[in-house]
Amino acid sequence: MTHKGTVTLETERLILRRFTTDDADAMFRNWANDPEVTRFLTWQPHGSIDITRKINQSDVSKYENSSHYQWAVVLKSLVETIGGINVVRIDEPCSCFEIAYRIGKAWWRQGIAIEALSAVIKFLFEQIGANRITASYDTRNQNSSAVMRKCGLRYEGTLRRSGCNNQGIYDAACYAILSEDYFGQRKKEISNVSHKWEYRLAVPSDASELLKLNDLFNGEDCNNLAAIKSSLKNNTQEIVCVAADGEKLRGFCCGQIFKSMCYDVNYGDITELFVIESYRRQGVASDLMSFIESEFQNQGINHFQLFTGGENKIGQAFYKRQGYEPTTEMMFRKRPLNGETKND
Ligand SMILES: CC(C)(COP(=O)(O)OP(=O)(O)OC[C@H]1O[C@@H](n2cnc3c(N)ncnc32)[C@H](O)[C@@H]1OP(=O)(O)O)[C@@H](O)C(=O)NCCC(=O)NCCS
Repeated sequence: MTHKGTVTLETERLILRRFTTDDADAMFRNWANDPEVTRFLTWQPHGSIDITRKINQSDVSKYENSSHYQWAVVLKSLVETIGGINVVRIDEPCSCFEIAYRIGKAWWRQGIAIEALSAVIKFLFEQIGANRITASYDTRNQNSSAVMRKCGLRYEGTLRRSGCNNQGIYDAACYAILSEDYFGQRKKEISNVSHKWEYRLAVPSDASELLKLNDLFNGEDCNNLAAIKSSLKNNTQEIVCVAADGEKLRGFCCGQIFKSMCYDVNYGDITELFVIESYRRQGVASDLMSFIESEFQNQGINHFQLFTGGENKIGQAFYKRQGYEPTTEMMFRKRPLNGETKND
C-alpha cells in the first residue's frame, strides 16, 4: 500500500476535501449538534459550538499523518460541509480499511452517502491499494444497509452485542467489499454498459415472466399463471425478488421466514434462486441475494439459511461465495400421501 493521506476527491455533486478550521460553524449547524444524526453514533450531539471548534481543530491537526483519511463532504451547490466520511481503522498488514460516515439530516435520502462512500471506495482500491473495505451499522439503523449494499459491500454477518453507541449496546451488521469484487465489478460494468438491471420485489403483473423462468428452472407444469399471480397477490409469507431488464425478468429469488418456538433466532430461508443462462456470471444472482437479505433485515432477520442440491456444484460455489457454509444436515421428503407423483 502507498498512503497518500486525505486528498481531494470530486463526484458529480460533491467535493470531498480536508476539513479546515473554517468548517466548525457548518459542522455544528448541519450535523454535529443534531440528536437524530448522532442517534446511532458513539458520540453525543456537541451541545455547544466551542466543543465543535475543539474537535474540528484536533481533526485538522491530524492531516500531517499520511495515513489519516478524513474528508469533509461538501455539496458543490452549497459550498459548505454537510457531513463527513473517514477511515476509522486501518489494518496495515492486511491492507484493510474500516469506514464510517455521517450526513446532515436535511440531505438524507438524496444518495449523498452513496456518492461519498463510492468515491472513497474507488480511491482506496485504485490509489492506495486496499485489499478489503468494511463498514458496519447498528441493526436497528436499517437506512445504513441500503447505502452499503448500493456501494457494492456484501453482508458478512452480525456481531451480536459487539458495539456501544448512544442507544446502548448493539448488534453490528458487518459489510465488506474486496478488491477482487471491486475490480471484477468494474470489468463487468465496462463490458455490460448497456445493461442496467433493476432489482425489486415482484408484483402480480410479473406473473407471466415468472412463469417462464420457473418453467426453465423447475420444469414445466410446476405451477400455472393464475396460481403464480394469486400467490404474488396473497401469499404474505413469501418474499419474491426479481432482476428486471426493462419489461423482461432475467432472474428471481424467493424466501420466507423460518420461525420456531424452539429457537430464539428466526431465519430468512432462501427457497429459490434462478438466473437465465445467458445472463449468468454478471453478478445478477449476487445482487438478488443482497436484495433479499436486506429485505429480511428490514424485518429484523439477520440469520439466513437455504437448501441446495448435493450435486449442484455451481449452486454450492455460488452460495459459498455469498458467505454461506454447508452444514451436515440432510433434507428428507416424504412421498405425497395421496399418491400424487407431480413435483416430488
Ligand atoms: C447459481 C446461479 C443462481 C448463479 O447465478 P449468477 O448470476 O451466474 O451468479 P453471479 O454472477 O452473481 O456469481 C457470483 C459468484 O458465484 C460463483 N459462481 C457463479 N457461477 C459459477 C460457476 N458456474 N462456477 C463456479 N463459480 C460460480 C463465482 O464465484 C461468481 O463470481 P465471479 O463471476 O466473480 O467469479 C445460476 O447459475 C443459476 O441460476 N443456476 C441454476 C439455478 C440454481 O442452481 N439455483 C441455486 C439452487 S436453488
